[in-house]
Parts: sequence; C-alpha cells; structure tokens
Amino acid sequence: DKGNYRHFMAKEIAEQPEVIGHTLAHYVDMAKGRVKLADNLPFDFKSLDRIAISACGTAYYAGLVARYWFERYARIPVDIDVASEFRYREPPLNSNGLALVISQSGETADTLASLRHCMESGMKAAAIVNVPSSTIAREADAVFPTLAGPEIGVASTKALSCQLTVLACLAIAAGRARGVLTEQEERKLITALIELPRLIVDVLKIEHQIEGMAKSFSKAKDVLYLGRGTSYPVALEGALKLKEISYIHAEGYAAGELKHGPIALVDETVPVVVIAPHDHLFEKTVSNMQEVAARGGKIILITDERGAAEAEGVGEVLVVPASNPFVAPMVCLVPVQLIAYHTAVFMGTDVDQPRNLAKSVTVE
Ligand code: F6R
Repeated sequence: DKGNYRHFMAKEIAEQPEVIGHTLAHYVDMAKGRVKLADNLPFDFKSLDRIAISACGTAYYAGLVARYWFERYARIPVDIDVASEFRYREPPLNSNGLALVISQSGETADTLASLRHCMESGMKAAAIVNVPSSTIAREADAVFPTLAGPEIGVASTKALSCQLTVLACLAIAAGRARGVLTEQEERKLITALIELPRLIVDVLKIEHQIEGMAKSFSKAKDVLYLGRGTSYPVALEGALKLKEISYIHAEGYAAGELKHGPIALVDETVPVVVIAPHDHLFEKTVSNMQEVAARGGKIILITDERGAAEAEGVGEVLVVPASNPFVAPMVCLVPVQLIAYHTAVFMGTDVDQPRNLAKSVTVE
C-alpha cells in the first residue's frame, strides 16, 4: 500500500528514519550505548585476518562504505568486489577470513554464488539480508537482518540505509573486539547512529528544493557525481539511481579521479553533483569542484552549513545537517535519492518499475 504517496519509492525514501530506527533497536543496547550481537556467532572479529565483501549494485555500494569503516574503526583489511567478478576472480581465500555478502532480496544469483564459493573454500560466511526466508539467509553461517520491511520500488532506497546501519554496527563491534575502539569512542559512534533518524527527518525537509531542480536535471544528457572517502560510494549510488529511473546517463567518480579523464566531459550542459560534508577531505573536494566550475559545469553541492559557508557562490547548495563523519554518508544519501526520484517524476517515467529492470536478479 502506497498510503498517501505517489510511488512506493517516495514512501520508502520517507520511511528511512523509521526503519533505520528499527534496525538500530535490534543491534544496539540503548541503555548501555553499546552494540549487541548474538553471543554464538560462528566467527570472532578478534582473530579475523580480513573480510571479503561481495554484493551487486546498490548493495555493493553499502559494502564500499563499510570498507572505510572496518578499516578505520576496526583495522581489518577488507577485500571487496562486485559478486559477478568476485566469483570468477579466483582470489586466494583463507579460512581466517570472513566472507560477507549483502543482499536486499537474498536471491541475487551472483551474490549467492559468491557465498557458496567462499563457504566451499572453508570460510565462514555472514550475510546481511532483508528477506529472512531467502536462499542467502538460509545458507549463510550467520545472518544479520536489515529491518527495512518489504521494499517494493525496484530502485533500492531504504534497504541501503538499513544495510549501512547494520554494517556500521558490525564495524563498531569489530572495533571493540579488536581493541581498536575505546568504550568512550564506541559510545560516541553509537550516539551518532542514534541521532541519525532525526537527522534524516531534517534532510527530508529540503525535498521541496530538490523537486525544484528536477526540470533542469531532466534536460541534462549526462550528469556527474563526485565524492571522496565515504562520499565516493554515495556518488556512485546517486549516479546509479538517476540512470535506473530517469534513464539519464550519469557516472559517479572519486573526486580525485576527475582530472584523470572525466573532466573532459564537463561543460555548461553537465550538472555535477558534489557530495562533500565538511570533514577532513572537504578542502580537497572543493578544489576539484573549482576545476569543474572553471569549465562552466553546473555544480550542485551537497554539504552541511560549514561547507556551505566556505563554498559560497559555487552554484546550487543543498544543505544537510552536520553530523559525525561516521554517519555522514547516510545523511548525504537521501538528497541523491531525492534528485533521482524527482527528476524521474518530472520526466514521467515509471518510477517503481523502470524499464529492463527486475527487483530480484536470479540469473547471472
Ligand atoms: C539498485 C538496485 C540493484 C540492487 C542489486 C542487488 O537500485 O536495486 O542494483 O541493489 O540488484 O540486489 P540485492 O540487494 O537484492 O542482492
């Protein structure tokens, strides 16, 4: 049931504060300010050599964000690849590593094959899934459910937010187990997570501004998305969402890669969405942004108040609430979802059932 919404996608975007809250309630002991996981996990974060993540599409981008988190907060090396490559790449696997697959449907053929491949080579395998009765959930050694509820829109939105929520909790648990995070640091990260639903409610208030940009996006033939650090996977996700539902060609790049090729595409007809919360990478991204501006590119900057003040005059700015950099990718995700949604609505495409796409991809 779409309720009062025009599309399932709109409803699912709006539900994100609530479903992130549900997911957090499952993984966080609110009274103690600590992550709680089952006592009988079939692996131990403390003794892991590495984590090998595989997933497809949007779920893969969740894994890309998580790589930064596991490396930074738990000092675990992470391998990550799209599942369709991972299974044929023949990476040397070792039994001290943990395989981690991420899938909304739990039925994606390539992701399932990666899971089986890792388990056959003696690795323990964990799965983050939204459908508890799915094949991937049944086969994995450990299942970490996302509590997004059924996702009907083909373009994944709330499932990604919940995947990130679970991954954030796992990274914190790993950081504690490995003695990287102090109790105080853990509590700080948990506080940031607990504030997230409220921050996203605030982000949703700029929906009107984003709707007003739809017309100009709809005229573009190409759109670029740029970000650094954990904003880079957000850029990839923004580009994928726009392609999927509006059929406008879009690409996401690590901001530092711009000058290695894609800058050749920039002219006054190309909107460039820059995702840059005011963190330790902000200055660097801004200098990439100035290179775009100098070539006439139309900049749409997603940042917080401080970032907006420092980048004044740069183009259109979408101001999101300031947050701990840990959760910033989840805050910045929402505007890129809304850009894709409103552009597609403006263009009159079938938002919930985009052409050529299926909700669950059960063939290679
Ligand atoms: C994008 C999208 C797809 C899926 C991908 C994996 O909006 O929905 O890219 O993320 O097909 O699907 P799951 O998560 O079901 O394995």
